Amino acid sequence: MGRSHQHIEIIDEAGLKLMRRAGLVVAAGLKAMMAAAVPGATTRQVDAVGAEVLARHGAKSNFLNYAPGYGIPPYPAVSCLSVNNEVVHGIPGDRILQDGDLLSIDFGGIIEGYNGDAARSVIIGQADPRVEALSEATRQSLWAGIGAARIGGTIGDISAAVERSLRLGRYGIVRDFTGHGIGHQMHQEPDIPNYRVGRGPVIRAGMCLAIEPMATLGGYRVAMLDDDWTVVTADSSVAAHWENTITVTEQGLWVLTEEDGGEAELTARGLPFGPLSD
Ligand code: MF3
Ligand code: CO
Repeated sequence: MGRSHQHIEIIDEAGLKLMRRAGLVVAAGLKAMMAAAVPGATTRQVDAVGAEVLARHGAKSNFLNYAPGYGIPPYPAVSCLSVNNEVVHGIPGDRILQDGDLLSIDFGGIIEGYNGDAARSVIIGQADPRVEALSEATRQSLWAGIGAARIGGTIGDISAAVERSLRLGRYGIVRDFTGHGIGHQMHQEPDIPNYRVGRGPVIRAGMCLAIEPMATLGGYRVAMLDDDWTVVTADSSVAAHWENTITVTEQGLWVLTEEDGGEAELTARGLPFGPLSD
């Protein structure tokens, strides 16, 4: 303990302002993609909206051609669009969105070398109340995790808060994928599990963290489709995914991938909102 933060990137004020610019592009892209996610649209059309927002802001995609290695084909789109039983990393394509689908939109972008990464789940058209409750519980668990982050606290505090929040609703908590540090790379140390793991690394000013709970209406087990990317629930239950990139300043929390920096949600929870001034 206390040794494992040495490879976690610490970003200076100028860098955090670029992380914020990247985050704002991601927030704008998610907003536009959510508006495009209507019954009858294909997931490819939704992805194209994200690509257009990146281009308009002069941002690069961190998802497109992402290659984790191990012989997995490079990722072919600027977003991951995961429908119903798909948990994460669904590949945009000819699939037509239907009334009642739960669509998880995961999107990222790079500004001057700094990465943003965030996800929202949305219901297409008319919502099944159980699916709506799952998405809302996953969103709440994201904010519970964000609210547990503080300078001098630990990554384990975030993990425990996310888990505690999701356990209240008896949702399945996906374990095979985690949140992550973020900065000059989209995926960096530390891993941020959505379940208790002990203390983990200490949180310092200048660390940027992508917190991303994935929860299901069934069990926690997942499987991989033949495309080597799409992760589905093993029991075919519906899954939701919410994510934000955050940083912690001396003043409080700054949610880089929310248009308002997280001010509304943080203030409603009595949590300190601590953006850097421009
Ligand atoms: N945004 C995803 C994550 O949350 C990563 C997407 S993988 C990619 O970590 F290949 F699509 F980029
Ligand atoms: Co992520």
